[in-house]
Amino acid sequence: MSIVSAVTPAESCNLSVVVLHGPNLNLLGLREPEIYGATTLERIDARLIELGKSLNAAVQSFQSNHEGAIVDVIHAARDRHQGIVINAGAYTHTSIAIRDAISAVQIPTVEVHLSNIYKREEFRHHSYLASIVVGQISGFGANSYYLGLQALVAHLEGLN
Ligand code: DQA
Repeated sequence: MSIVSAVTPAESCNLSVVVLHGPNLNLLGLREPEIYGATTLERIDARLIELGKSLNAAVQSFQSNHEGAIVDVIHAARDRHQGIVINAGAYTHTSIAIRDAISAVQIPTVEVHLSNIYKREEFRHHSYLASIVVGQISGFGANSYYLGLQALVAHLEGLN
């Protein structure tokens, strides 16, 4: 007798990745569109899930305006995900706690930014995450997330 599996494509993926969005990114589309673009977070997440399927990676996303909540999700990722894509928003420039959480769980992480943080105000030029992540993608709008996911999956699969 053959058993037909009822798993969805995402559940049958080889890899599982969590995408973390930090403060104010829930307002994408409305928030300074000349800097951050017109695409909403909902659309970015939907595209990431589709892209993930094509890369054989299940994608879960999470947005929070609270530093501790982001730290909690990074800790929980230990048992659930092989990789992290993070746009920590303003916490990029302030949060040793998020940096320490990524270092603590030792999960390969790619840092992404919609805007090119090095072309903007000086306080955005320093990232607490940059020196502990696999790599950083900055300045390509919503594409930074998609490029980040592709780069992370390639890294996890040992393709680079
Ligand atoms: C951002 C850049 C940060 O400086 C800023 O605080 C954000 C968004 C980006 O995606 O370009 O909230 O991370």
